[in-house]
Amino acid sequence: MCGIVGYIGNRKASDVISEGLSKLEYRGYDSAGIAVYNNGNIEIRKHKGRLAVLEESLAKNPIDGNLGIGHTRWATHGEPSDVNSHPHFNEEKTIAVVHNGIIENYAELKEKLINDGVTFISKTDTEVIPHLVSKFYKGNLLDAVYNVLDEIRGAYALGIMAKDSPNELIAVRKDSPLIIGVGDGEYFIASDIPAILKYTRDVYFMENGEVAHIEGNNIKIYDEKRNLVEKDVFHVNWDIEAASKGGFDCFMNKEIHEQPQGIKDTIERRLDSNGKIHLDDIKITREELNNINRIYIVACGTAYHAGMLGKYAIEKLMKVPVITDIASEFRYGQNFVDDKSLVILVSQSGETADTLAVLRDSKAKGARILSVTNVVGSSIARESDDVFYTWAGPEIAVASTKAYTTQIVSLYMIALDFALKMDTIDEKEYKKILDEMRELPEKIQQILNNKDYIKDLVKDLVAKEHVFYLGRGIDYGLSLEGSLKLKEISYIHSEAFAAGELKHGTIALIEKDTPVISIATQSYLFEKMVSNMEEVRARGANVIAIAKEGNKVVEKVSDKVIYIPESSDFVAPVLAIVPMQLMAYYISSMKGLDVDKPRNLAKSVTVE
Ligand code: G6P
Repeated sequence: MCGIVGYIGNRKASDVISEGLSKLEYRGYDSAGIAVYNNGNIEIRKHKGRLAVLEESLAKNPIDGNLGIGHTRWATHGEPSDVNSHPHFNEEKTIAVVHNGIIENYAELKEKLINDGVTFISKTDTEVIPHLVSKFYKGNLLDAVYNVLDEIRGAYALGIMAKDSPNELIAVRKDSPLIIGVGDGEYFIASDIPAILKYTRDVYFMENGEVAHIEGNNIKIYDEKRNLVEKDVFHVNWDIEAASKGGFDCFMNKEIHEQPQGIKDTIERRLDSNGKIHLDDIKITREELNNINRIYIVACGTAYHAGMLGKYAIEKLMKVPVITDIASEFRYGQNFVDDKSLVILVSQSGETADTLAVLRDSKAKGARILSVTNVVGSSIARESDDVFYTWAGPEIAVASTKAYTTQIVSLYMIALDFALKMDTIDEKEYKKILDEMRELPEKIQQILNNKDYIKDLVKDLVAKEHVFYLGRGIDYGLSLEGSLKLKEISYIHSEAFAAGELKHGTIALIEKDTPVISIATQSYLFEKMVSNMEEVRARGANVIAIAKEGNKVVEKVSDKVIYIPESSDFVAPVLAIVPMQLMAYYISSMKGLDVDKPRNLAKSVTVE
């Protein structure tokens, strides 16, 4: 997501900041900008597009000065554009702010400021901050910042500077990463360590609620209540490559571990003060929903697998039949889309060519288009009638993990909201499911805390040539994703089957020690799964089951069991995929393969 860099010292700030931002490119971004104090003014350059565009603009029109802040933006509120890029400033351009995170109550603050006569120029949530700082600034920047912190809610890492405090840089952290680099008579602020490693290896890690006040070559760090905090300097001894992965060996591993946060962001930021889902970018009304007679979910790859789970949720909650299909098939098939259809497109990148083609074709047939995507301003987002953004943050590894789980959660939220609007579920059921979904981050974290068990368990699988996955109902959709993860990055041949279908052919491939991963999270199908596991075991298979904690019966029909925390059948798949992601990752890394960039695959497929 967004990246922040700031500098105060004797070097040319624009050089230090550009260099730092280039080290944060891995976080994903769609625009970049910089503000530097120069000759009594704050000069700002900000542009949509790659950093090269900003660098070109700085080359043509350089800014001198030794104090500045910079930002790479990954759009959440407002499309990628020059005006929505950071830094943002107040009307007089005397205060400049960079922000990573989301201001949850920005709409309410913006309305109040507009009533006070303030003119906004961007669509961002961030812009409220410089206007608020300006409102409270009476010659003491730190006082003004603390006043603003009393007003804003949400997640933020901030870099703030003011024209009338030309020797000061303020950095704030709450729920978004921020570190301070300590140089010789100079300080750096950054979202991540790689941004400053060229200049210093000494850092302070900012904790939630802390505010760093840098004045000349002095720094003071305060807590939320403005008590002074004593901190130890941490000396970094990793290299840049390792640092951008946040200490993980590869992006996939990092992204697997980011799932609790991604799911939390995707859910919590959509809940209003009554705990109800608020789908801000979905304008479809109750009447329009009642007019829909067919729902399609169309996508490619992992996103298609998420769609399979979405089908289950929509059918269960909205009681409307859903057709799920692969975009490359759907676009050339007899698909019957018309003006009474709702077409839901799922795409991490928002740029997949086949999915985009389905969007355009369905739109031309009069269908309502709702997309679930991770990239704000992507083609699919722009061309859809309604958009639900997954807040997974940028996904770098080719094998999708956090995008997948946030896509499932997003489809569940859409299903819940629509079902309540259509009166197909009552408030009690709605609340029960939503409460369970809100527990997912914590439960995923429990699985991640036990990852060594999975690491140990997969040692027997590394040398295998074939691995089969079985599941029934929603677990069948999940088995397809587990199997895809394994083949994508470990190059082990793997297939997934609806467990009841195996005996109609594929069981011929089962022989002594063939690994079979059996997913058994669905209570109503459990006995059927047990029979299928016995069938393969009778032919010599080595069965690894994935089941809910407390299920002891499963131990009798499997060689090993991976337990996921107790949960309802509805949300259990979101948990059960995590061990399968870890299995694929461990096997790939034990085989010495490039986990993040598997052969022959691309992250975003923009050709047919
Ligand atoms: C590629 C990627 C997959 C992804 C699929 C759909 O094949 O390698 O990981 O699931 O595209 O991508 P999308 O961006 O539309 O979700």
